[in-house]
Amino acid sequence: MTTTRTPATSGPGVARTPGELRSALAGAGRLALVPTMGALHEGHRSLMRLARAEADTVVVSVFVNPLQFGPGEDLDRYPRDLPGDVRQCAEEGVDVVFAPDTATMYPREQMITVDAGTMGERLEGASRPGHFTGVLTVVAKLFHLVRPDLAVFGEKDAQQIALVRRMTADLNLPVRIVGAPLLRDPDGLAASSRNAYLSARERESALALPRALSAGRAAADRGPDAVRAAARAVLDGAARAIPPIALDYLALVDTATFDEVGADHTGQACLAVAARVGSTRLIDNVTVRLAAADIGGTPEGDSS
Ligand code: PAF
Repeated sequence: MTTTRTPATSGPGVARTPGELRSALAGAGRLALVPTMGALHEGHRSLMRLARAEADTVVVSVFVNPLQFGPGEDLDRYPRDLPGDVRQCAEEGVDVVFAPDTATMYPREQMITVDAGTMGERLEGASRPGHFTGVLTVVAKLFHLVRPDLAVFGEKDAQQIALVRRMTADLNLPVRIVGAPLLRDPDGLAASSRNAYLSARERESALALPRALSAGRAAADRGPDAVRAAARAVLDGAARAIPPIALDYLALVDTATFDEVGADHTGQACLAVAARVGSTRLIDNVTVRLAAADIGGTPEGDSS
């Protein structure tokens, strides 16, 4: 049982099974994992670069995890391109690509799962019931299979990384979670594998998402309600665009708990949005620093 390991100059080894993975990682030093579902883009590559800077050995997992897709979601049409993914991993100096199939990851019905708790029921979790249980379960499995010292996740999926952080803390998993800043395409759209589904006109409408978040952030010195109202005004306009965007949620939440923040909240918060354009569902977020509503604002670093 050996991987198709090739010298570093010609690309990473591709491991398809836990056994191949263990052989490929024998003697690896400090190990970083970048979990992905493939269809890699510049956003993923920034995660790989962060991992590369922090570790001796970098593993990228490529697995479209059925457990995190609900009925009627895009599991079947989710973009898959393993050769292209391996090529990009080679360009980023990745050591091993772990690309198991579904039967390898789930050889039997997954009876025991990681419950995402109430945080997993809000926002993305409300729109996609069971999604975060699927995410946390596969991430926990990957952590046990790869045994990384650190794992890098994109901050574009803000609720996901908050939940992964909470899982590692609550379950005492010995993995440091590193967040990689959200990456935007030149037109401002958050980089996502799902952008590939968008027509040119849908993409134009989708740009209302980053515009709404910018408008919200620009209102931060007037407090949470002003932030929500400013972002909402842009999204209301986009609901009348052709093609329209159908808003799923707009929320201003605590970055660690994902509870909606109150009107008197000051300090850091996450302004998160999800919307559908045509049949494509997109998410985006920005961090907002809320000043106190009265004169003076809050001291740097203060948060409630
Ligand atoms: O963010 C993703 O691509 C997925 O949710 C993850 C973390 C790889 C788990 O399948």
